[in-house]
Amino acid sequence: MSGDLAERPVAALTEDEAAAELERLAAEIARHDRLYYQNDRPELSDADYDLLRRRNRDIEARHPELIRDDSPSRRVGAAPVGAFAKAVHDPPMLSLDNAMDEAELAEFVARIRRFLNLPLDAPLPFVAEPKIDGLSCSLRYESGRLVRAATRGDGRTGEDITANVRTIKDIPNRLKGGSPPVLEVRGEIYIERADFRALNAARDAAGEPVFANPRNAAAGSTRQLDPNVTAKRPLRFFAYAWGDADPPVKGSYHAFLADLEAHGFSVNPLREPCHDVAALVAYHARIGAMRPELPYDIDGVVDKLDDIALQERLGYVGRVPRWAIAHKFAAERAETLVRAITIQVGRTGALTPVAELEPITVGGVVVGRATLHNQDYIEAKDIRAGDTVLIQRAGDVIPQVLEVREERRPEGTAPYAFPDHCPECGSLAVRPEGEAVRRCTGGLICPAQRVERLRHFVARDAFDIEGLGKKQVPQLLAAGLIEGPADIFRLARDQAKLARLEALEGWAKKKVENLAAAIEARCAIPLDRLIYALGIRFIGRVNARLLAQHYGDVAAWREAMLRLATGDADAAADLANTDGVGPRIVEGLAEFFKESHNVEALDDLLARLRVEPAAPPSAAASPIAGRTVVFTGSLEAMSRAEAKARAEALGARVAGSVSAKTDYVVIGADAGSKAKKATELGVTILSEVEWLTIARTA
Ligand code: IVH
Repeated sequence: MSGDLAERPVAALTEDEAAAELERLAAEIARHDRLYYQNDRPELSDADYDLLRRRNRDIEARHPELIRDDSPSRRVGAAPVGAFAKAVHDPPMLSLDNAMDEAELAEFVARIRRFLNLPLDAPLPFVAEPKIDGLSCSLRYESGRLVRAATRGDGRTGEDITANVRTIKDIPNRLKGGSPPVLEVRGEIYIERADFRALNAARDAAGEPVFANPRNAAAGSTRQLDPNVTAKRPLRFFAYAWGDADPPVKGSYHAFLADLEAHGFSVNPLREPCHDVAALVAYHARIGAMRPELPYDIDGVVDKLDDIALQERLGYVGRVPRWAIAHKFAAERAETLVRAITIQVGRTGALTPVAELEPITVGGVVVGRATLHNQDYIEAKDIRAGDTVLIQRAGDVIPQVLEVREERRPEGTAPYAFPDHCPECGSLAVRPEGEAVRRCTGGLICPAQRVERLRHFVARDAFDIEGLGKKQVPQLLAAGLIEGPADIFRLARDQAKLARLEALEGWAKKKVENLAAAIEARCAIPLDRLIYALGIRFIGRVNARLLAQHYGDVAAWREAMLRLATGDADAAADLANTDGVGPRIVEGLAEFFKESHNVEALDDLLARLRVEPAAPPSAAASPIAGRTVVFTGSLEAMSRAEAKARAEALGARVAGSVSAKTDYVVIGADAGSKAKKATELGVTILSEVEWLTIARTA
């Protein structure tokens, strides 16, 4: 027994285990990336997510030969990926302190006066400007030429994204009007809301995942490995600060911004001089009122002291300047009625509850729905249909339900009963212990999961059907040419459907013929690929191979799985005792086979396929290689689990029950009905001593 691999220290992993862990981590991290970046519904804390990434990195460092094509360390769109060169910031790129209300803003100004020892009535000019919700970027110009562009990173070290930034039209490659020896310009890369919507619409139409908000779209687009991709994204830039500069920047901030404009940069036209707290507060209110109509997302305004000599005197506390502050907008809140609670099924089968609200305007945006996250969230707040709730919308984040106004609850409401079946396909929805999410188990037939499941089904390590990839799957689904996996094989022989396919965009006679031939070629499939293709939870490539070797042929596997699903203890023990199989694998398989829809889909598929049995491991040229062995009774020299592992290492298949297909039955003390059955069937019986001779000498 391997125990739960996920818990095992990296240094203790064998090569096979490391491969299995990398496979699991790739899938797991990709899932959390999707939840975070595309669904805005993270299930993990940042710290837990980092742990997954760190484990992946540590395993890769020990086993570089196992690094996968789809390794999270090669992917962009999340935390630092290590794919870009490092770029050190000198001076560091700093952050801003926040003022949440007028009192905090007044204290910020008062602190400046105290620090500079200025009388209350001394003039203190500021420049106020919108705080853009994008990602900050440093642009280094030497003798007027852009030589390096870098992300902020942790403030001291970012990533070199020069090639990508050169494609952004708002950013000059050469400064206009003068070429200072060094000028490092800092500012914000962002995407306008309208461009973001168009980008997402195009991605959706192409079957690609959409971005959760403009900020994520800007970040994802900036950190592409291929600058040609970045070039196609509608990225914009506002300049608002400097870093290294020779000659040094002097005078006033407003004059510096005017110089930047003269150099060819976009500088926010809404910036304004403000001479006291009252003016700063009025500016904040004015920009706040304009916020819904602005073409880009902002999350506050930034107030900066205009006099650069005073900025230098004030300096920094920790990582924030004393001379500037972010005056944030309060998260917008409102009360409204929950008309109903509905369930959305995500692409991975996660059931997410949603509050359907009486539409209400919050911060200039009409809100009709709010996420309720998961079952625990609803239960903790006891949110019910009919309740009046306080909702909050912060920036572009999906609105949240903060609390229930229990005093306004009408009579006759009932606590929400979370469904245990998928509303999309009727399959069982299960919630594994210790997890927050309930998931539909009808992966193969659930319409919500269809696209992802079928993409997985035809992927390179699964059925690997040439001409049927990520792009074509949604196209064929939308055209009604396929619904489930077996339909792919029906399609290859259905002339009417093939003719319809030929008429679709991007297809032609020859291409359709090639696809039909590629599908036919895959009607013969090795058992491990079939198992992997089904997309069962926790069954990646390594585990699929393990199962194929253990059960040998598809009939034996199917039968054992059906027994497992009905709670057959022998079937469960047989599986759990297989080397490399942890409790999660058993759980994933049982879950899959308990759902009759899945079994139907599998059988439908099997009627169209020729599944090749697994070859026994080649290393084992032992007398029992390729044979089926059953252990019964208690062995003295080794445990049943060890005997099983040893037999499998020698290339045998270990079965739980005796049948005509059994080659050897190894009989320990107190052997019961299995020994009797072996005699009846004429199966060769080995004593423990005979078995040990084979086990130890082979
Ligand atoms: S000034 C030392 N101005 O806000 C001052 N920052 O919360 C450096 N930001 O990392 C920042 N709009 O990414 C400044 N008009 C603006 C800004 C702005 C957005 C971002 C910037 C910074 C973050 C701090």
